[in-house]
Amino acid sequence: MTPPSAPPGRRIRGRLAIGTSLLALTIALLTAGPQAPSAHAAGACTSTADCLSKMTLAEKAGQMTQAANVYISNKQDVATYGLGSVLSGGGGGPSGAGGTASQWADMVDSYQSYALQSRLGIPILYGVDAVHGNNNVQGAVLFPHNIGMGASRDAALVQSEEDVTRQEVLGTGIRWAFAPCVCVPRDDRWGRTYEGFGEDPSIVSPLAAAAVQGFQGSALGPTSVMATAKHYLGDGGTTFGTGSSGYLIDQGDTRLSEADLRAIHLPPYQSAVSAGVGSVMVSYSSWNGQKMHGDQYLITNVLKGELGFKGIVVSDWAGIKQLPDSTYAGQVAHAVNAGIDMIMVPDNYVETINDIVADVNSGLIPQSRVDDAVTRILNAKFALGLFGHPYTDRTYTAQVGSGAHRAVARKAVSESLVLLKNSNSALPLSKTGSYSIVVGGKSADDLGNQSGGWSITWQGSSGTNTTGTTFWQALQQATAGTGITLTNVGTRTKGRYSADVGIWVGGETPYAEGKGDSSTLAFGSDNSSQLSDICSHVKTCIAILYSGRPVVISDQLPKAQAFVAGWLPGTEGEGITDVLFGSGFTGKLPVSWPNAVTDEPINSGDGKTPLFPLGYGLAPY
Ligand code: BGC
Ligand code: BGC
Repeated sequence: MTPPSAPPGRRIRGRLAIGTSLLALTIALLTAGPQAPSAHAAGACTSTADCLSKMTLAEKAGQMTQAANVYISNKQDVATYGLGSVLSGGGGGPSGAGGTASQWADMVDSYQSYALQSRLGIPILYGVDAVHGNNNVQGAVLFPHNIGMGASRDAALVQSEEDVTRQEVLGTGIRWAFAPCVCVPRDDRWGRTYEGFGEDPSIVSPLAAAAVQGFQGSALGPTSVMATAKHYLGDGGTTFGTGSSGYLIDQGDTRLSEADLRAIHLPPYQSAVSAGVGSVMVSYSSWNGQKMHGDQYLITNVLKGELGFKGIVVSDWAGIKQLPDSTYAGQVAHAVNAGIDMIMVPDNYVETINDIVADVNSGLIPQSRVDDAVTRILNAKFALGLFGHPYTDRTYTAQVGSGAHRAVARKAVSESLVLLKNSNSALPLSKTGSYSIVVGGKSADDLGNQSGGWSITWQGSSGTNTTGTTFWQALQQATAGTGITLTNVGTRTKGRYSADVGIWVGGETPYAEGKGDSSTLAFGSDNSSQLSDICSHVKTCIAILYSGRPVVISDQLPKAQAFVAGWLPGTEGEGITDVLFGSGFTGKLPVSWPNAVTDEPINSGDGKTPLFPLGYGLAPY
């Protein structure tokens, strides 16, 4: 296949223009005001209609194509092919995983400088998974994953979270977030359960709208980050055992009647669309055996027609490659005709562009479908003010990870905690008097375990992977200057020690999509023995569980006087100590908690008896 032909003279003109662009970029960086001067390429088009009228078919196909930074070996391709978008997947930083906000901004601005050298100077929209803060970036604030935000039931808090995340994303020059996940997880064995706000659409819908408003404001504008409601439709409803890509349940088949699909999984999209969400990402999953990526009825008729969605429908990472068509060109046509506007390729972007062009030329894809897709993409770019101000506003960069931002996350952590048990008034803890606390468990002093998946890397990792405060560090701060003495036994819990109070912190270790699917929801034998050991050495024992979903704790509950579902709190451990020392529990379970894995799937209203029902949460003080 031949690449779309470049207009004659592009190369030389491009080189000169890059020089100009770098100069303008330098000026932009030096002045660094909220709206730094732009490097607007000569010849740029000035409105959606103007651009459309000037674009070749290949340029339109380029706009519909999103490549991952890790697959772009030559940034000049962004200019040559007029790519519409570049993304960073989980862990896709400026040079491998991590990288500071200013290194990210340099990377994004560099891609942008190439986009501005394309024939029409159309800026790229850079996209990233900012699913609990701008979570790929070293030093960014990490909020509780959505399941914890769901426990708060606090829409204003979710809006504040995403307003902070908006600023931390703007600080990296990025204008598009692949968040919020508005999934309705119905089976806790799904490894993405924690990305959802809860098992019932009545919990998810208001928080979905609040998240969109936090990212975008009341409408897309020059200080917005475009939000993405994902993954459309039914990602949280897949049947255990039907997963694709070798997974147990992730990317599986949602076997539901249309009435149930609409009743359970559609409401959050209605809510997000009403709030003006700029994009919707299609789900890897299938509905009754049909891949969502090819579902014209649900994407075009329902989402764009019935719901009136005017924004960009983006496919998921290589999602179109799972369509049953025998050739890639066939998969491209199938997806575009179903209503996908932008293809998250992420690797073979030249082939994708060529295939869109070939499919239009052969009549497989109507020209009108391409024009509609490009109109949606350009409308978003104009609304975001990218043409006038394509580069990072560095005033935001300096604020990434600021104290003010961390304070919002700390409050979010406090509101996310759910108290499952509190015998003998074990909680709250007092700051007066003299007593001893022993702390242990594998996650008490582990920021990575506290943050979960989608933290610096795609799957997350144990250990110190970014800047933040672990539970143990927060406890030291909270008790400084009091009569409380602290000991941390870590995972060495079998030793000779004793204390008045024991606090165990453990649970699941980080995972993300696919790898997080579980057939057991097991608490884990290491957790079990560490919890037993600590509790056997103290008078009052408190268990704090970090997990992305309910795990089986029926046998563990009797060991401790107090039991807290802490979810995946993120970087601000003080939010936990604030509550333990008396600010009070307000969180309510966003999911039904099973007695045993054999209860799964278990959801409110299905007639099963959970260990703790949806909405459960003690508030003794
Ligand atoms: C996930 C999406 C994510 C995308 C880009 C996919 O594997 O399903 O949620 O936005 O990758 O990282
Ligand atoms: C990327 C993720 C993406 C996943 C899809 C990973 O390599 O980092 O962002 O979601 O692949 O399989």
